[in-house]
Amino acid sequence: MADSKVVYTLSQVAQHRKKQDCWVVINGRVLNVTEFLETHPGGDDVLLEVAGKDATKEFQDVGHSKEATALLGKYQVGILQGASGLDDARATAAEEAVNRTTKDMPAFVIKEEGWRAALPGFLELAVPLTAAATFFGYTYLNRVAS
Ligand code: HEM
Repeated sequence: MADSKVVYTLSQVAQHRKKQDCWVVINGRVLNVTEFLETHPGGDDVLLEVAGKDATKEFQDVGHSKEATALLGKYQVGILQGASGLDDARATAAEEAVNRTTKDMPAFVIKEEGWRAALPGFLELAVPLTAAATFFGYTYLNRVAS
């Protein structure tokens, strides 16, 4: 990633709409996707169509995966002037962090919730059973003794 804090205007971004020099704006981030054109799973033509423009809507309309969203940072060369770029870029980075955490968490959380969730159910059964056993045991021993 180049210096991602450089601020570009949309008209500056619009200078880069060639196959050899292709920039797009997504979520307030200015991305240089020249190198990505060849490997983009959706093909280079869709990227070239939005070259030099804000493609946030197009990017979202496709329903790109979290992995795809996480890739945005890799191609970021700056932020878009005006469009609360800094905040957006930071928000996206924060979202990615959350995504990473929640992605790594489930097995751990489920495991921990597993026995914790089972505990009240177990006690609900074990406590009355213990009380009943104590009561009948006590009664039985009393009978035997007398
Ligand atoms: C740097 C920006 C972009 C990145 C990193 C990116 C990344 C990806 C990735 C990883 C996929 C595979 C499917 C997935 O994981 O969601 C994908 C598919 C696709 N992308 Fe992008 N993409 C970018 C920009 C765009 C833009 C701007 C458009 C539309 C104008 C677009 C259109 C598509 C399409 C049509 C597919 C194929 C979806 C399918 O076959 O189901 N992408 N992209």
